[in-house]
Amino acid sequence: MSIKLIDVKKSFGNPPTEVLKGISLEINDGDFVSIVGRSGSGKSTLLYIMSSLDNASSGKIFYNQIDLVQMNQKEIHELRNTKIGFVFQFHYLLPELTVLENVLMPARKHNLQLTLKLRAMELIKEVDLEGKEHRMPSQLSGGEQQRVAIARALLMTPQYLFADEPTGNLDSHNGDRIMTLFQKINKEKKTTVIYVTHDKEFANRALKKIELADGALKNA
Ligand SMILES: Nc1ncnc2c1ncn2[C@@H]1O[C@H](COP(=O)(O)OP(=O)(O)O)[C@@H](O)[C@H]1O
Ligand SMILES: [Mg+2]
Repeated sequence: MSIKLIDVKKSFGNPPTEVLKGISLEINDGDFVSIVGRSGSGKSTLLYIMSSLDNASSGKIFYNQIDLVQMNQKEIHELRNTKIGFVFQFHYLLPELTVLENVLMPARKHNLQLTLKLRAMELIKEVDLEGKEHRMPSQLSGGEQQRVAIARALLMTPQYLFADEPTGNLDSHNGDRIMTLFQKINKEKKTTVIYVTHDKEFANRALKKIELADGALKNA
């Protein structure tokens, strides 16, 4: 089982500028993968396209040999809502909801808030926020907010976790904690983890490293 990209291209604007210039790669289930490259090299764009949050301009993306464009609405919703967790560079917590309510957000769509409440509490503990369930995001540090966003991304026990510079705004101690949590999930739940980072040490923890330069794979 894998995620496979074949000659994926992405252009923005009119006249179009090509931001991804034909990316082909395969990520096997259970892989632990870092994406590195200079600012503007296309890392976020690749992550959004790989995770089905954005469409490619051309090329193909397969999840377990099924072409994303062949999936019907129901299948694509199921993929996005239950199989994929995404941690954005800026966490996007809802400011009017508590920590616990933010973590439970993905359960709302499925009416599973009650069922998953224990799981949410467990995750909050796992990201070291026990006792802060009822705080508002504004009462947390940046590192704590990012950890809430990570707990939220993990609520549905996704098969795939995508993270766009999850440690970018954190000090090295908090960054290290998040990387360690990712490694734990990868090991214990066999979750495929794909993360963008600028940190050399964090990038090197990956078993597989994807390096982008100007919209293309380096050394490809
Ligand atoms: N929605 C968009 N519209 C126009 N240009 C975009 C858009 N998203 C990204 N770009 C451009 O694509 C290039 C790659 O962006 P991005 O994937 O965000 O790079 P990275 O994450 O590596 O910094 C940049 O030049 C950026 O300006
Ligand atoms: Mg980016």
